Amino acid sequence: MPRISRMVLVGSSALLAAVLAVQAGAEGSAPVSPIYGVALPKGYRSWELIAPAQEAPPLDELRTTLGNPTAMKAYRAGTQPFPDGTVLVKLAWKHVQSPEFAPASIPGAATTVQVMVKDSKRYAATGGWGFGRFVNGQPVDAAQHQTCWSCHQSRAAGHDFVFTRYAP
Ligand code: HEC
Repeated sequence: MPRISRMVLVGSSALLAAVLAVQAGAEGSAPVSPIYGVALPKGYRSWELIAPAQEAPPLDELRTTLGNPTAMKAYRAGTQPFPDGTVLVKLAWKHVQSPEFAPASIPGAATTVQVMVKDSKRYAATGGWGFGRFVNGQPVDAAQHQTCWSCHQSRAAGHDFVFTRYAP
């Protein structure tokens, strides 16, 4: 019965297409940074706090750096350089005065989310670190990504190119 076999064929290729679409969604859809190919890591918002930070005006931001379990283990053990698999995420917000209590500072609008991923082979040319900077979940342009390594390299070389120290 050729009609049935054609139906089976159409049905199975539709299934194959659906399977491929699901696989692409699972692996290929997260936007990645130019130059480095770094994506926003899944679930980073519930990672542990390494330390807060603040930047003076004109940027005038409150910031916080979070680490995945590999990062936190390395921080607590004082392991340097950070092992492959370390991921650091820095969140930033506009610095706003509390409407309820003037001396207090609170986070305003979210500005950027920045990521550093340690992979000593893939990123051998940049101290083992891959960089990603995201605004509203989308990576910013290559020109901005060209600045990451030079600043971290020149100013944080004594701490494996990472500025943030563990806040007790
Ligand atoms: C002009 C210097 C400078 C440039 C350029 C820069 N950073 Fe940073 N970065 C810092 C400083 C200083 C900190 C420490 C936290 C803070 O003060 O915000 C930091 C912290 C970080 C952190 C938290 C881990 C750490 O090192 O403390 C990440 C992640 C990060 N930067 C990613 C990036 C990415 C991605 C880029 C490029 C798009 C970039 N940085 C460009 C200075 C810089």
